[in-house]
Amino acid sequence: MVSIRSVTSLLVLSIDLSTAIPTFLQNVLQNGISKELNTRELEIGELNFLHTTDTHGWLGSHINQANYDADWGDFVSFASSFKRQKVGKSRDLILIDTGDKHDGNGLSDATVPNGRISTEIFNEQDYDLLTLGNHELYTAENTILEYYSTALSQKFKDAYVSSNVEFVTDDGDLVPFGSKYRYFETHNQNIRILALSFMFNFQRTNPRARVSPATSIFQQDWFKQMVKQYPQDKVDVIVIFGHMPITDPEAHEINHVHTTLRKLYPETVIQYFGGHSHIRDFAVFDERATGLQSGRFSETVGFLSIDKIKSGAPEFKRRYIDFGKHSFAYHSGVSRQTKKGQDLSLKIASVRQELNLNEVIGHVPTSYYMYSKPITSKHNIYNLLVTKVLPRLKSDQTDETKSRFIIINTGSIRYDLYKGNFTKDTEFIVSPFPNDWNFVEVPLSLAEGVADYLNEGPVLYTSMAPPGARSRKRHPESCPFIHDPKLSKGYTTRDDFGCDGDDVPHNTELYFTVPNVVQSVELKPTDGVNVHLVFYSFIQKDILKALNELGETRLSGFEHFTDRDCKRYGGASTKELLKEYIRDGE
Ligand SMILES: *[C@@H]1O[C@H](CO)[C@@H](O)[C@H](O)[C@H]1NC(C)=O
Ligand SMILES: [Zn+2]
Ligand SMILES: [Zn+2]
Repeated sequence: MVSIRSVTSLLVLSIDLSTAIPTFLQNVLQNGISKELNTRELEIGELNFLHTTDTHGWLGSHINQANYDADWGDFVSFASSFKRQKVGKSRDLILIDTGDKHDGNGLSDATVPNGRISTEIFNEQDYDLLTLGNHELYTAENTILEYYSTALSQKFKDAYVSSNVEFVTDDGDLVPFGSKYRYFETHNQNIRILALSFMFNFQRTNPRARVSPATSIFQQDWFKQMVKQYPQDKVDVIVIFGHMPITDPEAHEINHVHTTLRKLYPETVIQYFGGHSHIRDFAVFDERATGLQSGRFSETVGFLSIDKIKSGAPEFKRRYIDFGKHSFAYHSGVSRQTKKGQDLSLKIASVRQELNLNEVIGHVPTSYYMYSKPITSKHNIYNLLVTKVLPRLKSDQTDETKSRFIIINTGSIRYDLYKGNFTKDTEFIVSPFPNDWNFVEVPLSLAEGVADYLNEGPVLYTSMAPPGARSRKRHPESCPFIHDPKLSKGYTTRDDFGCDGDDVPHNTELYFTVPNVVQSVELKPTDGVNVHLVFYSFIQKDILKALNELGETRLSGFEHFTDRDCKRYGGASTKELLKEYIRDGE
């Protein structure tokens, strides 16, 4: 027998309710479904925001995750329907993105240059404020593409803001990357907005860009001029949006920004939008200032509203919307795509086809997770790598049968590997980075200590861990843990407003700590005291530092290892090894 529940959810996911079913029935279905999923409402205010961040090319939906089954066409439809149906003509809506649009999905990464087509698709959304992330700054070609196709575009020339990043022209001149700030008035409520955008203190840019520390701009002439031109009595809301985490327990960059701004604007409502650390987060800065961060990889649309802006104490409301068709239909009251959204979805599908992203390489028999299974579990992806994948590494330079330690940084894996088809896209999603292997021959007693050293070592090494592992507020246990297998696995977010931020309650996904590095150890009893320590060439500096510090404390008369002791190991990259492992179906 088919239960009513499964029938109704099927209907919503696959049929356009607004055309297929009369309105009264639609309401029954929608209400039934919302009760079933207990979808939490958006509380609309005078001023409303929709926020995305760290989309990393994920514009083509999440094929193996039903929660996030919307594509960019659905999102464009949603924003426009939501504005028309729910915000209306008496209140205002502002759309914001805070950068990182490359590196993470085939749609952006399978083209040359990276982002050639995904940038066009992304820019179909009618953002009011947008900026760049560090992933627009690794390569010169990405920076040039971002600057000319988006920051300077006709569509976004007012909306694109970066207060502390400069573009370097062909002639070597520094010019602002978009506007330094944007001052505008909303259409309906005439709310006067002053918007600035800060990138975190990222110092590894390619030569075509320069990032200045956020707080350094407060000394600059244009900033002082701006404060003079738009003092407190000419601004209702300051919007600080940028590629910077809302919660930053290490550098406190955003808190330093807030301290200075509060001195200049003691009474003004300040709303922050952040990114980079790939989490859902909301923080209260003071009675008139809060910050929202809206996840990663097009899994989340952040919603924020502010009421009583000009009268009395402002009221802030926040919600994390699952990037899925159910949530979009529920919150806009419209399940049909707009014409523009529909065209965009068709375009995305055809681009995916052109880029062969659906090409099946193999089948993943069960899901492997980065965080939600402990590293000792068979269902943890790092466990899979060290027990099954890395041992397949063969050297074309040296004797790979010698005892060896293979060390990889966990940051080189970007996403869970889901049960189902392993496609060309999966490669870009799970393990996008190519790598070269180097090795150094060292005493076993040193090799044994390196991984522990890098995992317990100074703050510096946390950059080797995956981005989400760094600043995640890892306390789902402080919010009621939901265990209900009928619900889909997903976020239970805890933030400064409590535990009810997620629009759809999920069967709580657990988070386990991920170390900075993991290692595969193959010891042969017949070998002597020396072993091969094999590692990614790009972590050589860290490996040498670890070896030398360990050597100094453990061995007498120890001589430092240098780059000259490190040699090419050769062999297939981790991403190739993983692909071959899946293809061989072992
Ligand atoms: C997986 O790939 C097979 C072809 O190899 C295809 O028939 C099937 O529809 C794919 N499944 C999904 C969910 O895309
Ligand atoms: Zn990111
Ligand atoms: Zn980032």
